[in-house]
Amino acid sequence: MTGAPEPPPGVDISRPSAARVYDYLLGGTDNYPPDQMAGEMIKARAPELSDSAHANRSYHRRVARWLAGQGIAQYIDIGSGLPTATNTHEIVRRVVPSARVVYVDHDPQVLALGSALLGSDPDAIVILADMRQPGDVLQHPQVRELIDFSQPAAVLLSSVLHFIPDETDPYGLIRRYRDALAPGSYLSVSHMTGENKPPQAVAALQALGQSAAEGAFLRGMWWWIIEPVVVLIVLFVGLYLLVIGLDEFANPRLRQQG
Ligand SMILES: C[S@@+](CC[C@H](N)C(=O)[O-])C[C@H]1O[C@@H](n2cnc3c(N)ncnc32)[C@H](O)[C@@H]1O
Repeated sequence: MTGAPEPPPGVDISRPSAARVYDYLLGGTDNYPPDQMAGEMIKARAPELSDSAHANRSYHRRVARWLAGQGIAQYIDIGSGLPTATNTHEIVRRVVPSARVVYVDHDPQVLALGSALLGSDPDAIVILADMRQPGDVLQHPQVRELIDFSQPAAVLLSSVLHFIPDETDPYGLIRRYRDALAPGSYLSVSHMTGENKPPQAVAALQALGQSAAEGAFLRGMWWWIIEPVVVLIVLFVGLYLLVIGLDEFANPRLRQQG
């Protein structure tokens, strides 16, 4: 069932990881039996999540392409995941050939496979860092070398914030990343929700979160909308808010384009 190569040294494959389960749901091969079992459990109890994974990846690609269309030449892709078909640097360079991209993930397997894939590309790097420590990301010497924070940049937070528990203040974290950006920059967020899912699907995801390397926090729309004072005023202050619904990206026609 697994076509995955030997795991890089230091990578724990005894329990599912977010990056590998997501890879499995997307049809990738960089995953191992615990990830595959978790993926199958998700497919059985929350079958729409497979589609959601594809829709999310499609959203990520479309946002990257749109940002490149705005002329953005610097990207910090946080919680970037295992390399998959058409990575961020490939997408944006079709529009801005000189674009520079930093991939950030806390999973050492992402670092190993991502770095191997990028090889000696001088303008795209992967760093191992926990997004809950923004200083580790923003002050990382390689990040400071590649990203000019006096110029517009984009921070991409695709499908990663639902691994950040409330105790570690996701609002505050987003503010930290936002505050590091120059005027004209962008911050993109996609987030899994437990809404409109049957209770057994939510329960299964929460149980998986407890056994996996990362817990899952399925915030509902209330987190974004009922707390507008926090979300819209504090979080996105100084930024134009472009609301792009995932539903739109679940549309098969748009998915093909994505
Ligand atoms: C579901 S994948 C999303 C991959 C990609 N961003 C996308 O949307 O296609 C979530 C990724 O976030 C990473 N992640 C989870 N918690 C993290 C943290 N605290 N710091 C950095 N990366 C994290 C996981 O290792 C995983 O690769």
